[in-house]
Amino acid sequence: MPSEINGETRIEPVYSAAEIATRIDVLAKDIASKKLDGLLVVAILKGSFVFAADLIRALYNNGLSPEVDFMTLSSYKKGLSSTGTVSIARDLETDVTGRNVLIVDDILESGRTLAFAKDLLTARGALSVSTCVLLDKPVPRAASIKADFKAFDCPTAFVVGYGMDAAHRFRELPYVGRLVDH
Ligand code: IMP
Ligand code: MG
Repeated sequence: MPSEINGETRIEPVYSAAEIATRIDVLAKDIASKKLDGLLVVAILKGSFVFAADLIRALYNNGLSPEVDFMTLSSYKKGLSSTGTVSIARDLETDVTGRNVLIVDDILESGRTLAFAKDLLTARGALSVSTCVLLDKPVPRAASIKADFKAFDCPTAFVVGYGMDAAHRFRELPYVGRLVDH
């Protein structure tokens, strides 16, 4: 796949739409094999919305009927890097008490976002909390957390597309790409 020039920005493809679709079906089979009763999928907005949309349909195709809810978390940002504090911009509507929960996020980087979500839902009395990410960046974690399910390893670059943005742009790209200075 060739690089795409989008205004001032060059985007170099990392994972194609076809690669993502194939991998998500395998991931869904893996999740289905865990036999989590009454599964509640919690998608962390905004970055995970495209991934979550494809994942829940792959779960359906593998025999699951999860409930789905959304939580918007923000980690305060300066430019492209996270500064540390995670806060809830929009909370769940669902009571997670006694539920098997699968948290879905786009990227695991410092781990703060996923650890915050996991600790929160555990503290609210979830029966189990598993985590699923599209991309895992091999960087030192600020919070000790590992994704139970991950689609791909991520290059240590800023990536966009497939729901992920740089200043609200590029979410519409059907593939994952990295921003390249030029
Ligand atoms: P963490 O809290 O440091 O693990 O960061 C995870 C969050 O930062 C993800 O949910 C993303 O929203 C965002 N993020 C981290 N790296 C990137 C990137 O390369 N592109 C877009 N968003 C990113
Ligand atoms: Mg995010």
